[in-house]
Amino acid sequence: MTLTTRTPSALAAALRDIQSPVQGELAAVSDELWRIVSADVPLVAEVQEHLMRMKGKLFRPTLLLLASSIEAPPPRKAITFAAIIELIHLATLVHDDSVDHSALRRGMPTVNALFSHQVSVIMGDYLYLRALRELVTIGDLEAMRSITVASNEMTLGEIRQLAAFDALAFSERDYETLIRAKTASLFMAACDVGALCGAQRHRAALHRFGERLGMAFQVADDLLDYTEGQEMTGKPSGLDLKEHKVTLPLIAALREMDGGARMRVEALFAAAEPDDEAIAEVVGIVRAHGGLDYARRRADQFSREAEEALGDLPDGAARASLLESIAYVVERRW
Ligand code: IPE
Ligand code: IPE
Ligand code: MG
Ligand code: MG
Repeated sequence: MTLTTRTPSALAAALRDIQSPVQGELAAVSDELWRIVSADVPLVAEVQEHLMRMKGKLFRPTLLLLASSIEAPPPRKAITFAAIIELIHLATLVHDDSVDHSALRRGMPTVNALFSHQVSVIMGDYLYLRALRELVTIGDLEAMRSITVASNEMTLGEIRQLAAFDALAFSERDYETLIRAKTASLFMAACDVGALCGAQRHRAALHRFGERLGMAFQVADDLLDYTEGQEMTGKPSGLDLKEHKVTLPLIAALREMDGGARMRVEALFAAAEPDDEAIAEVVGIVRAHGGLDYARRRADQFSREAEEALGDLPDGAARASLLESIAYVVERRW
């Protein structure tokens, strides 16, 4: 797949196109989300109102709905599952921003910035458990298994990231294990549960697609942390280096570095709070040592594998959108 660089408005239009076969259902997912989380508790209402204002791309619900409509329109329960998946995603973001000390998400202050880390911990748990309660209410054991396996994986991923004490020894293989757990697992669950609600014979293919797409998605996200400003992504840029998070661009660049360049990187990792200048310097070093290009190539490989996974699926609007979503994932700028 050869990728061109599309403008932000062309990318926004591409996302709308991808979502168009399930547009009506996605609107219902938003309503379903707020039905599931509503509670008569002032703090919940306040945080909920804030979260409602910061709308995301609804990418995982989109995948679930598309995966459920390969052969026929999505059944009603796919909408509830899609809302559950988005809620789990939201819960991880609330926790992740607190763990990452991030102040900005979707162009707005994070829960930890606006309220506190305490509120983030409790609200994240609350969102998870509302999702779980809803899942139990539906009572589909196979879907429950898929979603709880993914949630467990995600938590393990975040733990792995936090426990990487010798950050610069983090290998590409460690990195892939990490991103499969923390990001691809929910993409897999979205596609898997979608298939469960629709034509189950496509389950394995859609599961594989979700995995490869999720890998591409996180590599792209890690690239955006290096390449885009916060005006575009709605998240702080350079935060991964600031937080001493080693992602693929750095892993690849480190392999090409001589002693001098490596020392600059080590100095950044030794500083408790690296300043913007040190971060900009290391971003330059990573770029100069081919780290960004390497990560782009890797994202493209994951994309191709995602495309291959869709090979035997019947033609139609849902499959076409899933195919479109691959290019979107690696080209996206937010
Ligand atoms: C952000 O996911 C978290 C990652 C796995 C990188 P999204 O980019 O899908 O976030 P929203 O929901 O659209 O804000
Ligand atoms: C992905 O990691 C977050 C989760 C899967 C919870 P990041 O830390 O890179 O995500 P962003 O950049 O904060 O969205
Ligand atoms: Mg983060
Ligand atoms: Mg990130």
